[in-house]
Amino acid sequence: MNTASAPADRKIVLVTGASSGIGEATARQLAAAGHHVVLGARRTDRLALLTKELREVGHGAEYGELDVTDQASVRAFVEAALARHGRVDVLVNNAGVMPLAPLAALHVAEWDQMIDVNLRGVLYGIAAVLPSMLERRSGHVVNVASTSAHRVDPTAAVYCATKYAVRALSEGLRQENSEIRVTVVSPGFTRSELADKGGDPQAQGAARSATELIGLPASAVAEAIGYAIAQPAGVDVNEIVVRPTVQN
Ligand SMILES: NC(=O)c1ccc[n+]([C@@H]2O[C@H](COP(=O)([O-])OP(=O)(O)OC[C@H]3O[C@@H](n4cnc5c(N)ncnc54)[C@H](OP(=O)(O)O)[C@@H]3O)[C@@H](O)[C@H]2O)c1
Repeated sequence: MNTASAPADRKIVLVTGASSGIGEATARQLAAAGHHVVLGARRTDRLALLTKELREVGHGAEYGELDVTDQASVRAFVEAALARHGRVDVLVNNAGVMPLAPLAALHVAEWDQMIDVNLRGVLYGIAAVLPSMLERRSGHVVNVASTSAHRVDPTAAVYCATKYAVRALSEGLRQENSEIRVTVVSPGFTRSELADKGGDPQAQGAARSATELIGLPASAVAEAIGYAIAQPAGVDVNEIVVRPTVQN
């Protein structure tokens, strides 16, 4: 049974990092709003389960393997959607990693990983969708940054640097293109798997504790993304910061 009321402008929406957390919640939210979601991540077993679940209730969903650090992978993900649907209306650049550690720990490989996933991955996404969006004179790029794009905290220097950079390039993309909508969504602490991988155990443990204590459900961030997408074509919601009320 299709429980979604298909909106007049049913969009083709690509979501990177849809295998957990905010990306997964965004896929659910947008599919329930009647859009067709195309889910990307490396853990395709999870994407397959989510796609099956969405389809079983009549939503439009499909998935593809995606490594945002590999430009060819990003291009193939977008091209497959373009081939199937003739257009990409929205790209949600959500995939991200956050292995926190002091700079003095010299976790250089993790610095590279954050730059590759959080910054290069977003740029590769933009490179893959921009030509067809410009041709159609329409499109929407939603970049998931962070409150770490607005303030710097110890152990998060490189993570913050990548998120500040995402805000900067989003503003550049907006200024250079009058027909493409650009939105930065910056969440505060949100319950997900983000602090589970890599980093310094103490720093990651502190982030996990704070998230468990005050973290938003990922659906709250998905709602913010859904709000920006739902606006009429001439309305460009440029930035949304959504954090727990008690977060300083
Ligand atoms: N949770 C928070 O408190 C918070 C706060 C501010 C901003 N954010 C941002 O929100 C976004 C989503 O994070 P989350 O909190 O939902 O964490 P999460 O549950 O760990 O999700 C991260 C997603 O990114 C994907 N990913 C990681 N590396 C990838 C790669 N190389 N290629 C493709 N996908 C990759 C993961 O999928 P695979 O591992 O399956 O590839 C996963 O689906 C990130 O950009 C994060 O920086 C989160």
